Amino acid sequence: MTQLKVSRRHVLKGVGIAASGMLAPFTVATSAPAFSHGVASGDPLADRVILWTRVTPKAGANGPIEVRWEIAADAELRRTVRSGTALTDADRDYTVKVDADGLEPGSTYYYRFRVGDAVSPTGRTRTLPADGVRELKFAVVSCSNYPQGYFNVYHDIAARDDIDAVLHLGDYIYEYAAGGYSNPHAVNFGHVVEPEHELVTLQDYRARHGVYKTEPGLQAVHAAHPMIAVWDDHESANDSWRHGAENHDETQGSWYERKRASVQAYREWLPIRDEGDDPLKIYRHFDFGGLADLIMLDARLIGRSEPLLYAEHLGDPGTDAGRFRAQLEDPERTILGREQLTWLEERLEQARTPWQILGQQILMGKVRLPDLLDVAAFREGGPFDRASAERLLDIAEAGLPLNLDAWDGYPASRERVFAAARRHGSQLISLAGDTHNAWAFNMMDSEGRPAGVEFATPSVTSPGMEIVPVPPGILAERFVNLNPELVYLDSSRRGWMEITITPESATSRWRFVTTVLSRKWYGLLGPALQVNAGEASLRRA
Ligand SMILES: [Fe+2]
Repeated sequence: MTQLKVSRRHVLKGVGIAASGMLAPFTVATSAPAFSHGVASGDPLADRVILWTRVTPKAGANGPIEVRWEIAADAELRRTVRSGTALTDADRDYTVKVDADGLEPGSTYYYRFRVGDAVSPTGRTRTLPADGVRELKFAVVSCSNYPQGYFNVYHDIAARDDIDAVLHLGDYIYEYAAGGYSNPHAVNFGHVVEPEHELVTLQDYRARHGVYKTEPGLQAVHAAHPMIAVWDDHESANDSWRHGAENHDETQGSWYERKRASVQAYREWLPIRDEGDDPLKIYRHFDFGGLADLIMLDARLIGRSEPLLYAEHLGDPGTDAGRFRAQLEDPERTILGREQLTWLEERLEQARTPWQILGQQILMGKVRLPDLLDVAAFREGGPFDRASAERLLDIAEAGLPLNLDAWDGYPASRERVFAAARRHGSQLISLAGDTHNAWAFNMMDSEGRPAGVEFATPSVTSPGMEIVPVPPGILAERFVNLNPELVYLDSSRRGWMEITITPESATSRWRFVTTVLSRKWYGLLGPALQVNAGEASLRRA
């Protein structure tokens, strides 16, 4: 378990129960090759984009397969712009990735694949705009947990035709065994994962990606828009860091082998560009037409120092908080690692656009837990009981943060980023996932100076703070009243963020779905918060 008797996973996310099971690799027997996992595109540049698919080989076949691909300017694929062939085989789990170049900036394209008579669905994608673009729209998502429900959020985004790119901030898959961290209703309608056991090996991670890629909402969102994705922890294991994870122990073998396996499967199954010789290096940069720098970060696997845990490192908050805080603020503790941080500082220094957007996993805004004792309907034996709430409140009253797995657990790293942004005059927007709840912050540095704003997306399906037995409106009010940086919290609904960037302003519109437990759902409009260029605080749009 993580930091407290009631862990971050319980408080911010929900309950997770791990169980073990038998290997059941995901295979579909077909009489001819087929495209059972849809198509996808990603990592667009002004002249190229990654096109992705996976071939399900004919039953019994195990040799290499040649796949034809084409990309065209029209939906019927009559005006072909580029085409070619790609080879795939078992060494890459029959996934296919093509970097289709020679494209025009700011343009919509359509693409598909063929093997013999089998033709894939047609995907739509879009290149990055040329300089001078006046508006950008991103759809921001995270935490799509298959055994927690239908991916209605992805359908909502797929239906849009004005999105430049979908930004996936991690937890694209979850590693737990069947029955772990799942909703019994979702299991009833067939959202059951394979393999049944927790993911450890390359074969395990590949099989799980295969199950997810059969979900119609996920196929639809990939077919509709290019995606720019980074992993969070659950693509490998819960609360992962450079040398381990909360959900890894030595009976499962080497952490480094498990990490490598998860990264290999992720790179095979996601439409991201593979560059350089270090597969762990996922942090990268996109220039959106001179209007925004999108800087995608890895706050998990490549550099993160060992987390501090309240359960292990904090005795009595009343007497021990000072010593604990000194440990927490140790400048040697890093969340990005030295090399990535230096790279980020250089990106901020070289930025020439009005907006510097960090696409990353976890909250940068500071959060302490408010006093909920008088409004909580505690249930004996519930996942968030009175004793847990009292312990958390003691921690909060000692001035310590709620979630040490976020940037709150690595304050020196956060200050380094804020200092670089300040030095280079960056207009910083942090986009975060991980918590399953919707948040917005006016971020401040340790001296209380404005440091940018943060928009955090709710999950696609994973449960949020519903686990805390307090009505959501009261919960949000208590959090906002206690935390000076926090301006908005919705802990009760699944959804996504529609981010609109213009030279004058950056706006987040939260969008929710009524349910993830039925295919009959509709979208709900959440609030919109905006920051103007040159300003540092949010207002209602
Ligand atoms: Fe998550």
